[in-house]
Amino acid sequence: MSTFQAPKGTYDLLPPNSATYLAVREAISAPLRNSGYGYIETPGFENVELFARGVGESTDIVTKEMYAFETKGGDRLALRPEGTASVLRAALEANLHKGGNLPVKLWYSGSYYRYERPQKGRYRHFSQVGAEAIGAEDPALDAELIILADQAYRSLGLRDFRILLNSLGDKECRPVYRAALQEFLRGLDLDDDTRRRVDINPLRVLDDKRESVRKQLTGAPALGDYLCEACKAYHEQVRELLTAAGVAFEDDANLVRGLDYYTRTTFEFVHDGLGSQSAVGGGGRYDGLSEMIGGPALPSVGWALGVDRTVLALEAEGVTLDIPAATAVYAVPLGEEARRVLFGQVTALRKAGIATDFAFGGKGLKNAMKSANRSGARLALVAGERDLAEGVVQLKNLESGEQTAVPLDAVVDEVRRTLG
Ligand code: HAM
Repeated sequence: MSTFQAPKGTYDLLPPNSATYLAVREAISAPLRNSGYGYIETPGFENVELFARGVGESTDIVTKEMYAFETKGGDRLALRPEGTASVLRAALEANLHKGGNLPVKLWYSGSYYRYERPQKGRYRHFSQVGAEAIGAEDPALDAELIILADQAYRSLGLRDFRILLNSLGDKECRPVYRAALQEFLRGLDLDDDTRRRVDINPLRVLDDKRESVRKQLTGAPALGDYLCEACKAYHEQVRELLTAAGVAFEDDANLVRGLDYYTRTTFEFVHDGLGSQSAVGGGGRYDGLSEMIGGPALPSVGWALGVDRTVLALEAEGVTLDIPAATAVYAVPLGEEARRVLFGQVTALRKAGIATDFAFGGKGLKNAMKSANRSGARLALVAGERDLAEGVVQLKNLESGEQTAVPLDAVVDEVRRTLG
């Protein structure tokens, strides 16, 4: 133990469990890479205004949860609380949207920071894999993204997740609904904080989990009744495409996301084994975000899946991923000369693409064999003075215990043959 500990709300990823995180990132990104999404990486921090304008001045993320700071040079920056605003900023800055090749399809993977009250599944540093399709208004694009996330979760072996789907309307119909909702909410018995929320972001009140608020919400106007014809038709197409693809979803008229940029299609992936932090991923359309951050009109859609919560979902379902052992061969030298010779063999095996490790630090045979077994290796290469005098090493199958002498110049071929 050192004097220091990981900061509150954070944790370290350590082997062997860290392999599951890598496998989850890989599984989520594989369907994207297979569907025309290119990899993008943006800085871990941005101008604080990008998030204030993009995510929304009234959201918890911006008002309470941002790690914002001023640099020595006087710049106001924030650690990124999410990826969409940054990815859109980067795409606009690099003019990826020009040249007629829309949508620009991008995927990303990285760390995000929110100053939240930590609990299981809710951290101050967490990890997302996300996708954004920028510059096209096409229900097939919304459907594509939902289908790819569904595919990713299924490829991991997850079954107990549900897809909640809603439409939040557009700049035509949402303001009308917002006004109707405000009128309804202003007639209720609410505390000052919630009244302020009614003024700034009334849709969020629908998401209030307190019973005292919930019971007053019966009879609140429903957004679905206010959708304009264009939004209704668009949403119906998304639903039809998902159904045709065999992706099950639940219509959830109360699905309100915690970020302000959403329009039309919104969705959340929830997992029933996770308790209160049940959203493993979420996303939707954000047709107005580009203009909010000073760009041209670029209707877009995207999602981000939480890696931490996806790993918790795997645990909740008792799914263990089939992760191949990192080491296939473990070399155990007995004596100085053997160290030199076997180290050479280790380098040759690695060059041949075979994952190999070595008993460093002059351990005795017993300890070295223990390390070999712990590494998960299938084969051990063992050599002592007598073997070297005969120009061989012993190739030991750690599963069967079988051992054969292999000439030094045939080790790579023999190992390859044995591993298959
Ligand atoms: P979000 O719903 O805020 O959306 O986050 C997406 C996912 O990130 C959540 O479902 C959850 O799994 C994970 N997550 C969020 N906060 C935490 C936390 N404190 N601890 C652990 N996991 C967390 C967005 O971030 C949008 N940018 C998604 C998007 C992309 N919309 C359009 N494009």
